[in-house]
Amino acid sequence: MMPGFPILVLIGAPPPPLARFLSTMSGEKGTMYRLKEVREHQSMTSLWIIIHNKVYDVTKFVDEHPGGEEVLLEQAGKNGTESFEDVGHSSDARELMQNYCIGELAAEDRPEQDYPEKRAYTEGAPPEPFSIRRWLLPIIIAIGVALVYRLGVTYFADN
Ligand code: HEM
Repeated sequence: MMPGFPILVLIGAPPPPLARFLSTMSGEKGTMYRLKEVREHQSMTSLWIIIHNKVYDVTKFVDEHPGGEEVLLEQAGKNGTESFEDVGHSSDARELMQNYCIGELAAEDRPEQDYPEKRAYTEGAPPEPFSIRRWLLPIIIAIGVALVYRLGVTYFADN
């Protein structure tokens, strides 16, 4: 038998606060955080941000953030969803942020309505359809110029 096994049997499952602490330490995604707890992480040494009701620990990312560290510090310990969306972060940024997600905001602390997603305007824009109207004027001008040229050449050739 494994040493320590009887102790494990005796202890059983850890009490809920300990279980929560352990899952927080292991970075389990399903961990719920209260707003009060997130507010405690608003410095360069521990920087958490809420975006779309998920909690991100961006302490290790702050130096690499292409938008600079000040903007992240401004939103530290807060709900940064609106600021995040107003910048129009790309799909790459949204994928990258998944690496820093440590859990979710507790239902009690969520805003009534989540702020809508705004993707970068350069992304996913459908290619402009071919429009004859856009080309009509240049074509008419080109034909006009060609006609005038042709008439001019004929006129000077005859004289
Ligand atoms: C986990 C959170 C975040 C991640 C992973 C992240 C990532 C990125 C990335 C990859 C870019 C480069 C442009 C792009 O790909 O969209 C960027 C730009 C930027 N980000 Fe963030 N960001 C985060 C949070 C925020 C927040 C909360 C703000 C608050 C205002 C912010 C403000 C900006 C700004 C101002 C830029 C520069 C945009 C530009 O120069 O056009 N970011 N971010």
